[in-house]
Amino acid sequence: MTQSIPHTHHDRLLIIDFGSQVTQLIARRLRELNVYCEIHPFNKVDDAFLAAFAPKAVIFSGGPASVFADGAPMPPKGVFDMGVPILGICYGQQVMMHCLGGRVERGHGTAEFGRAYVTPTAARLPILDGWFAEGREQVWMSHGDHVSEIAPGFEVYGTSPNAPFAITADPARRFFAVQFHPEVHHTPKGAKLYENFVRLAGFKGDWTMGAYREEAIRKIREQVGDQKVICGLSGGVDSSVAAVLIHEAIGDQLTCVFVDHGLLRLGEAEQVVTMFRDHYNMPLIHADESDLFLGALEGVSDPEVKRKTIGRLFIEVFEKHAKSVGGATFLAQGTLYPDVIESVSFSGGPSVTIKSHHNVGGLPEKMGMKLVEPLRELFKDEVRALGRELGLPDAFIGRHPFPGPGLAIRCPGEITREKLDILRRADAVYIDQIRKHGLYDEIWQAFAAILPMRTVGVMGDGRTYDYALALRAVTSVDGMTADYYPFTHDFLGETATRIINEVQGVNRVFYDCTSKPPGTIELE
Ligand code: XMP
Repeated sequence: MTQSIPHTHHDRLLIIDFGSQVTQLIARRLRELNVYCEIHPFNKVDDAFLAAFAPKAVIFSGGPASVFADGAPMPPKGVFDMGVPILGICYGQQVMMHCLGGRVERGHGTAEFGRAYVTPTAARLPILDGWFAEGREQVWMSHGDHVSEIAPGFEVYGTSPNAPFAITADPARRFFAVQFHPEVHHTPKGAKLYENFVRLAGFKGDWTMGAYREEAIRKIREQVGDQKVICGLSGGVDSSVAAVLIHEAIGDQLTCVFVDHGLLRLGEAEQVVTMFRDHYNMPLIHADESDLFLGALEGVSDPEVKRKTIGRLFIEVFEKHAKSVGGATFLAQGTLYPDVIESVSFSGGPSVTIKSHHNVGGLPEKMGMKLVEPLRELFKDEVRALGRELGLPDAFIGRHPFPGPGLAIRCPGEITREKLDILRRADAVYIDQIRKHGLYDEIWQAFAAILPMRTVGVMGDGRTYDYALALRAVTSVDGMTADYYPFTHDFLGETATRIINEVQGVNRVFYDCTSKPPGTIELE
């Protein structure tokens, strides 16, 4: 996949990834400037790739390696002869100096991590327009090795106490190299530096959502021709935006399959069906398979067994209904860019599986289908912007993520219809509270979970022996890490009271104050 060349007729910027933790942020900063860019790992970029990709500018990311290490990551030699501007960041700077005749030295006491201040040298540099109005700028450093001698043709434009070559450039060749990370928020003028760089490179900044929509539609038509496409619709933002976009491109050649596994929230199935079948007029199969799923989950309390059972059944059910469409050759998926970026791994070892995520992986091969993935160049917030461009209602686009296994993983222990019913009603009250208090958009994800225990309470004059609920609400940027949301005590008290009063079967409510790590967002 890495070697695929974009069809876009927009100017392209190539980010060569040397394995920095923050390479994706470079892409975010550029996309914010309406510049089309792609991240490719250094070991997949050779001269032939460069020629085919034809970038208008190149950025070398940072990375954890040392240019002294055996097999140190290097860019293809030809990149320096393309006549396009290059910006090297951190390791990218070191590699540039190393390749062009400068010198890099090992850390030894000059390593620098965190905030630093860069002051300018006398000369001005176009990529520093807007910098140094106050004399110095805060930047974010994270390096062990450092440049000790710049390459011929380069000059120094900024220094910091531990990085005498914090900003270097060869303006004639339009090669720029900085020791710090302009893509992180802790370099407040970093976005300006990127803006100056792309302007200097001649980007028009015309990669907008409107343009993306038109291009995506053209590409879908080209790819699909007069064949049929099926799309697994979950009601989540990604599959919804993908479905609406594909429907706009090929109309009724698309059929959506919405598998209701009986683990959805209150009113969710109706909302999805109303929106897509009635509002968008899409051919939609509403597969109510709750008996099948809930039957298979009877007596299952192990989280991984639950996840695997749901994943397996989902594929079986989807396949069955997809056959009924008759002769679909394409499967549409809402794959996003972060799922596609091939990461540069230096440790090599596989990471530990914390949870088996449910998705439709494995389906295309099993069914002999080709994939249509119109969102694979977009980040999540760009998908939301595209959704808005396509007219999907804000309330739909801004919805909190909902996991594929649904309420199954919010019902630790054995799943019963009774528990699911209580959970659905309690969750609806909780979300209603959050919306009423205007907190919904501040929270990444909020939900109720029903705990595998009953507790004693007293209501009116009687004893109760009912379920306990846990409420969860977290803030997060990407779901990888999260913090619990600090509701006021009043809010929590009011919500607990409402749930216990309005939902029969619950007599106790807890609030989960665990961050991720050490917790995870879902309970299972
Ligand atoms: P955890 O619980 O791992 O969740 O901290 C991180 C994010 O992923 C969502 N999640 C899933 N999404 N299929 C999905 O599509 C899954 O199997 C799945 N499991 C967790 C979770 O809701 C949170 O947003």
